[in-house]
Amino acid sequence: MNQEHPTFLDETAGTAPNTSNRLIVQVYLGPRSYEIDIVTDGLASLSGRLESCKERLSAPGGQVSRKALIVTDGNVAKLYAHVVRHSLEDDGWDCQVHEVEPGEQSKCQASVSAIYDQLVEFRADRHTVIAAVGGGVVGDLAGFAAATYARGIPFIQIPTTLLAQVDSSVGGKVGINHPSGKNLIGAFHQPTGVFIDTATLDSLPGRDYVSGLGEVIKYGASLDDQFFEYLEANVEGMRERASDVLRHVVAHSCRLKADIVEADEEERTGKRAILNYGHTFAHAFETLCGYGTLLHGEAVSIGMVYAARLAERCGLIDSSVTQRQTGLLEAVGLPVKLPKESNISTTDILDRMKLDKKTVAGQLRFVLPTKLGHAEVFCDIPEEDVVAVLDELAE
Ligand code: GLY
Repeated sequence: MNQEHPTFLDETAGTAPNTSNRLIVQVYLGPRSYEIDIVTDGLASLSGRLESCKERLSAPGGQVSRKALIVTDGNVAKLYAHVVRHSLEDDGWDCQVHEVEPGEQSKCQASVSAIYDQLVEFRADRHTVIAAVGGGVVGDLAGFAAATYARGIPFIQIPTTLLAQVDSSVGGKVGINHPSGKNLIGAFHQPTGVFIDTATLDSLPGRDYVSGLGEVIKYGASLDDQFFEYLEANVEGMRERASDVLRHVVAHSCRLKADIVEADEEERTGKRAILNYGHTFAHAFETLCGYGTLLHGEAVSIGMVYAARLAERCGLIDSSVTQRQTGLLEAVGLPVKLPKESNISTTDILDRMKLDKKTVAGQLRFVLPTKLGHAEVFCDIPEEDVVAVLDELAE
């Protein structure tokens, strides 16, 4: 963890969560710095919370444009986007809502064009704000429109799924899919602020919520053993969606991700690649099982089990690390094995992993643990060890 940037984490390391109602995580990126503001039951006061990013929302001369296009999807519009809209309008903002179909298929060029059209019609200028209210699809799509309209306009993230709150809303990766590849068209465009209300997780279907915990456990297993211990000690709180546990879990995950993003904003040095722990296997599983069969966090959960077994086989960790990780994943209700009916072969998985866009010059890259709470990138893992682990775990 980056010790130069003390946050609430210093007070809450280990098993004692901060019980204050509002937690702030600072992301230090020079002129692109921003705050992740985490509360429970705070959507209705969003406009007041925008104070923290007033400077970055201001036009030259200091005036805030107070014009926002709220991008959301059909599920979230009814639940939360109108709360955001009212909060802004009550404070004098001129708002319009742009609704997309829920689901991955909305991350496409036609959806971006439709957002551009509405921005033009709305007479948006370079200081108009895009507010993304929803999960990862909405955040990635709205963020990409913000990155490209008028060479970049401000956008704020208001993520309403656990996966988006702990991962996709932080770090500035925005983009859409191309028919031949997920996230193939994109940009780095940091949000001006991230506003998280953990109460939005109450309405999340159980499977989606638990899937988000896969990314949370990833942070503990690959970056922070004390956080891993906190998660082990708070399985009940996570399962029950206890608000104090959720605020701590979300804030700490964001802090861990922010530390990595601060160190390697545009994934140039390999540090940001650590965030892909479990993902080399997971991407292959998601594709081969058919998108939608495994949710992303479920695939990451199974992928982390494979990665830990591979690390064990290569002598990087002993079996107790794999067992503790598997124990925690199972305790929160995540799958640790591929579904029986998936019937995918070792050759299929290996071939798929070689096609992954994170593969460099055909060389498989794995993020593997070297102890609990620490992982590194390896490019020289013998293929026979990968095959052995794939065969072993298929049994
Ligand atoms: N989700 C991985 C990253 O943001 O780099």
